[in-house]
Amino acid sequence: MMKHIRPIDWIPAQPDSIMPGTLHILDQTLLPNETRFVDTTDQAAIWNAIKILQVRGAPAIGVAAAMGVAAAAQAAAGGRRDDVLAAVDFSADYLATSRPTAVNLFWALERMRRHAHASTTTDAAELATELVQEAIAIRDEDLAMCRTIGEHGAALLTDGDTILTHCNAGGLATSGYGTALAPIYVAQEQGKNLHVYADETRPLLQGARLTAWELMQAGIDVTLICDNMAAQVMKEGRIDAVFVGADRIAANGDAANKIGTYGVALLAKAHAIPFYVLAPTSTIDPDAATGDAIPIEERGAEEITEGFGRRTAPAGVKVYAPAFDVTPAELITAIITEDGICRPSTIHV
Ligand code: MRU
Repeated sequence: MMKHIRPIDWIPAQPDSIMPGTLHILDQTLLPNETRFVDTTDQAAIWNAIKILQVRGAPAIGVAAAMGVAAAAQAAAGGRRDDVLAAVDFSADYLATSRPTAVNLFWALERMRRHAHASTTTDAAELATELVQEAIAIRDEDLAMCRTIGEHGAALLTDGDTILTHCNAGGLATSGYGTALAPIYVAQEQGKNLHVYADETRPLLQGARLTAWELMQAGIDVTLICDNMAAQVMKEGRIDAVFVGADRIAANGDAANKIGTYGVALLAKAHAIPFYVLAPTSTIDPDAATGDAIPIEERGAEEITEGFGRRTAPAGVKVYAPAFDVTPAELITAIITEDGICRPSTIHV
């Protein structure tokens, strides 16, 4: 079994107790050049880590947010039960403002809030401990779901297949394994040889910096392409299937993912290549009837005009920077969750 990348972890001060503990966040803005961690329990630092993409990818954002709430509860553990509840509510409201699109963030925050208010303990320290345990459970369940997604997806892969992926929906974006990349890791364990084309994924280069990096670490054969090369690569007959992740899946199967995914889906359709969306059920939003209800994050112009510190566009140019797009359900061959492989029209909400 592969060694998991742990992009987000809870590190206890002592080995025999989960409290006190600290969030341990792999700073993904520095990859692939540097492996450095942010160790914090500070709410503003956790919010910032999510906002600036030190921790990113829908499931990993959810885990970070849950651990953020746990850290807030821990800080209030010396007081009364009501102090812990107030800290939990404050933290959940605050962290919910960090990024708008990935529903896993809100899912995890609400799970933590629900757990806190439903707990019957009257002891503040005990309640805080329960919340740390709940955050760790969210992480462990995510890892298990990703593994299962990988097993379902690997059944679609045969030895020698070539997959194209967009952005990073790998171990770095989850508690381990990833979603879109999980089948590739599982297939590798099964002895299948696969090849992956990774779109570089402008403007923040999650494909180049993160997907290429983690696949190479795992010994998977990966080729990096610029986003605008995908059509040519498909036309040359190099791609057997497209695997992507999702940040939020609407009740009708429309799926939001990193900007550019919709274009890849259109290209796949034009070249009769199957297009799969892989995500845990925590990414399904039953309250979004269609993709039109999914909020799309807009990011700063500087990520396009001077990404990574070098100006590549004239100062003052107008910029539009949506970070996500929505692929309509009719372009999706199947959605793969931990529950199995289904047509977008039959997802359970
Ligand atoms: O802006 P990011 O890097 O958080 O965007 C990430 C993606 O779009 C991923 O594909 C998605 O969150 C799925 S991660 C398993």
